[in-house]
Amino acid sequence: MLAPPLHPSDAVLRLDDVTLTYGKFTVLRNISLEVLPGQVVAIMGGSGSGKTTLLRAATGQLSAASGLVEVFGHDMAHTSTYDLQSLRKRMGVLFQQGALFTDLTVFENVAFPLREHLQLTPAKLLERVLDKLNAVGLRAAAHLAVSQISGGMARRVALARAVVMEPELVFFDEPFAGLDPISLGITARLIRSLSDRLGCASVVITHDVAESFAIADQVYLVGQGELKAHGSPATLGTSTDPYVQQFLQGQADGPVPFDYPATPAFQAWLTLQRERI
Ligand SMILES: Nc1ncnc2c1ncn2[C@@H]1O[C@H](COP(=O)(O)OP(=O)(O)OP(=O)(O)O)[C@@H](O)[C@H]1O
Ligand SMILES: [Mg+2]
Repeated sequence: MLAPPLHPSDAVLRLDDVTLTYGKFTVLRNISLEVLPGQVVAIMGGSGSGKTTLLRAATGQLSAASGLVEVFGHDMAHTSTYDLQSLRKRMGVLFQQGALFTDLTVFENVAFPLREHLQLTPAKLLERVLDKLNAVGLRAAAHLAVSQISGGMARRVALARAVVMEPELVFFDEPFAGLDPISLGITARLIRSLSDRLGCASVVITHDVAESFAIADQVYLVGQGELKAHGSPATLGTSTDPYVQQFLQGQADGPVPFDYPATPAFQAWLTLQRERI
């Protein structure tokens, strides 16, 4: 069993004066940030500014050269490999290059973490996966092969997979990359609604201003190896800092149809699934 946190704190993620390096190369220095339960926090910055590196520190893949990284109140520098595993089960990650298993169906892709980590009954598994697919508008696409869905749909399936374990903290690394403006707006709102519905905190790593400002409670902007600014979108919006201003462009998208329509093929697939239970 994981020992109780040494530093009880309300934050699900806290970085205090953290410096991150790869060997002699310092990517980020003196970073402090806090993610509270239920918050959507955007970490923004240009390409190569160290956003993914921050994520690696938060998930324990990279140790901080100095400073404190605390997840669910646990100091990551003093957490055993075994305890790290149980902390990781409480986190979900949508990796930047997060690919789906192309030889599995949409359903099996989302079911994968559940089959790995939990012993659910087939009925509970079906219910849980369909619930998460429903949350991303793809319940009726469950039976499709990954090769039969579009890139934007694949991203939504990956979102469903990232939250299927019902984590308390989810990291989305460039969830908007490669999406058209409409899918981009939908995905952003989806992250907000998933966070609200599941009650989890979300960290969205992105360089997309309009979308992250539309959904984030707090925004952190990194650049030139340091934290350039942080605050609510409203506060950052009024900043006169030229570096901050450089990021403030773009427009939110309007409402568009969201749910993939149910087809006879989906109904037949669902009936078959239920008959097997
Ligand atoms: N494993 C590694 N070893 C050495 N240097 C690395 C490693 N991973 C990343 N870097 C370097 O660290 C810097 C930050 O990389 P990182 O991937 O964190 O950037 P990013 O902000 O996520 O960029 P992008 O928006 O393009 O994804 C870059 O200069 C990169 O070349
Ligand atoms: Mg990155």
